[in-house]
Amino acid sequence: MTHLLKATGIKKSFQNGEEETLVLKGIDVTLDNGELTALVGQSGSGKSTLLSIVGLLLRPTSGELEIAGERVDQLSERKRALFRNERLGFVFQFHHLLPDFTALENVAFPAAAPAGGISREMRERAEELLGRVGLKDRINFPATRLSGGQKQRVAIARALMNKPDLIIADEPTGNLDRESAETVLELMREVNQEDGATFLICTHDPEIARQCKRRLTLEDGLLKADEVMEGTEK
Ligand SMILES: Nc1ncnc2c1ncn2[C@@H]1O[C@H](COP(=O)(O)OP(=O)(O)OP(=O)(O)O)[C@@H](O)[C@H]1O
Ligand SMILES: [Mg+2]
Repeated sequence: MTHLLKATGIKKSFQNGEEETLVLKGIDVTLDNGELTALVGQSGSGKSTLLSIVGLLLRPTSGELEIAGERVDQLSERKRALFRNERLGFVFQFHHLLPDFTALENVAFPAAAPAGGISREMRERAEELLGRVGLKDRINFPATRLSGGQKQRVAIARALMNKPDLIIADEPTGNLDRESAETVLELMREVNQEDGATFLICTHDPEIARQCKRRLTLEDGLLKADEVMEGTEK
């Protein structure tokens, strides 16, 4: 079995003045290639902190992190940024689209920004991705003129632009109504099955968690449960 991600003894504490808060107390977890995993747990249990560490947005206080066979916890800032851009995709509760950019420009951004512009190949890939998320007719709409669910679908297309090994989603359906949430999840499942992309999705929505094959439960900074759900395979 090939691990895409291996986290060993991940601890994270935050310093607030005199006080130090230990938020992650030693997390050991592996994700295999192509897994679709939900991360659940009460508010404050450390889910977003763990996602930020796995997404190389935050450094662990101690512990080791390996993604795609590479030790990533010790990389320099510059190498972390590169790794993030090339290997990871992010979807957040708040889509973080660039409002003055069109849907297509937003999707192409992770490739276009480092290159300094949108090439024809990038445009074609962004168009294809927007087609896949059902927004072919919104390609040239500015982000501000899209609905919440449409923006989130653009955000998913953007996360896929650079063909990432791992897509990290923090409450991707948190702001959506039931139907848009279902569409967004369906889309992630499809990409997971068709492209073999690995997903780690943090969610408070039991319906979303139920539809993921594996469920990790955090409790007070520790991994409380690691379950493989039955009957989720299509
Ligand atoms: N920069 C920080 N400084 C101090 N404490 C922090 C910081 N970031 C997070 N924390 C604390 O870490 C704990 C876990 O936060 P985290 O955001 O990971 O929780 P969560 O499981 O994502 O919660 P939610 O479901 O509400 O999003 C919280 O008690 C929070 O106050
Ligand atoms: Mg959170």
